[in-house]
Amino acid sequence: MKGHHNFFLSVRNYKILIFLTVLVGLCLIYFQNSGVYHNKYLPLPREAMEKVSYSLQLHKYIIDQYYDYRKDLKTSNLGSILFKRNDKKTLLVEKNRTFTVLIWRHWEWLKYRHIFRYSSTPHNPLEDCSVNNCEFTGNNRLLDKVDAVVVHLQKGVLPNIYNRTRTQRWIFLTDESPIHLFGNEKNRPNLSDLVNVFNWSMTYRTDADIPVPYGRTVPLEAPIFTETTNTNITKLIPNWKNKRRDVLASILMSNCGVPYRMKYLNKLKKHMKIDIHGKCSDSHLVNSCPGHFRADCKIISNYLFYFVLENSLCKEYITEKLFHQAYAKGAIPIIQGPPLEDCKRLLPPRPTNSLSLLLIP
Ligand SMILES: *[C@@H]1O[C@H](CO)[C@@H](O)[C@H](O)[C@H]1NC(C)=O
Ligand SMILES: *[C@@H]1O[C@H](CO)[C@@H](O)[C@H](O)[C@H]1NC(C)=O
Ligand SMILES: *[C@@H]1O[C@H](CO)[C@@H](O)[C@H](O)[C@H]1NC(C)=O
Ligand SMILES: *[C@@H]1O[C@H](CO)[C@@H](O)[C@H](O)[C@H]1NC(C)=O
Ligand SMILES: *[C@@H]1O[C@H](CO)[C@@H](O)[C@H](O)[C@H]1NC(C)=O
Repeated sequence: MKGHHNFFLSVRNYKILIFLTVLVGLCLIYFQNSGVYHNKYLPLPREAMEKVSYSLQLHKYIIDQYYDYRKDLKTSNLGSILFKRNDKKTLLVEKNRTFTVLIWRHWEWLKYRHIFRYSSTPHNPLEDCSVNNCEFTGNNRLLDKVDAVVVHLQKGVLPNIYNRTRTQRWIFLTDESPIHLFGNEKNRPNLSDLVNVFNWSMTYRTDADIPVPYGRTVPLEAPIFTETTNTNITKLIPNWKNKRRDVLASILMSNCGVPYRMKYLNKLKKHMKIDIHGKCSDSHLVNSCPGHFRADCKIISNYLFYFVLENSLCKEYITEKLFHQAYAKGAIPIIQGPPLEDCKRLLPPRPTNSLSLLLIP
């Protein structure tokens, strides 16, 4: 023991010490890397190895791990295309005719989200779909004749069931959490009336037959930076130039009737500045933004952080607050919503040692 002690303290041997330290460091790096990658990638010849950039492997590794997280998700065929890696799936579809889908009673209303995407430009909702021989109609008189009927539960009005054919599919659609299933409708149906009515579900959840999430994470083909570099990553952050330093965080809120939200924000405001925009704002910000969905609230992009406080804390319920207000505007989301596990599965992965997901307890 004493010998070792002397060895490390001996000034004469400092060159050996440095050499050993470097060697141990190299070994650590080597083992760490090989430990990480051996399972997934065959070792490449040394020359090739040097050419294949480290970041590309890291990129692939992160994506593999990300999809591993999602392995247990129960999904429909469509769901597996959207959330898993089965995008090469061959689906058996009749391509020789056009299927008609009736959007029961609320086509005009739904168009705003699915066709106009909160803008003034219409989009084809099937533009990226491998199966697209469908057309949509809002003509309720076609109820008996269409191939499928989409009923928006939030509006609470079901079609009467008379001449429904056995081949017709009925689909319930909801963008809200189960707590707000029927929105504010007074004339809400009883849940027992809905038994054996619908064939398919259409919700934000990954286990819906037809998932319609508010946003989803898809991997980049390749990393943006392919080598270790000091390139200014702020270039990647939308609206970086507009970010304020005097007030760091904001929230757009037009429903002031969710008690925990106001309580939480009022408490925090004693310690930091938070700008609340929208209907629930302080008086000096009251006209800063026109509304929630009707027009984009550009001012939100001036802040570094955005409070994503969902109106209900439900499985996978994560809305435009996160995707549109936080991510798309270049703000770090501070989330009160679904459990951490859901966030890990649905949101972009992060290295474990970096600023992790900010979740409010
Ligand atoms: C379309 O093709 C399917 C088989 O893929 C066939 O059973 C069906 O009769 C065809 N329909 C028409 C209208 O041609
Ligand atoms: C059901 O179908 C029959 C025969 O096609 C028709 O006479 C009747 O009007 C239909 N009922 C409704 C409510 O559409
Ligand atoms: C849809 O569900 C109804 C009611 O359960 C059923 O009668 C009908 O056959 C189903 N449609 C299809 C195409 O499976
Ligand atoms: C729901 O059920 C209650 C009691 O069974 C009944 O009074 C009410 O009318 C029903 N509502 C609808 C919309 O059918
Ligand atoms: C990165 O870019 C931002 C905005 O373009 C600039 O303000 C900042 O000084 C840059 N930082 C470095 C280290 O170059």
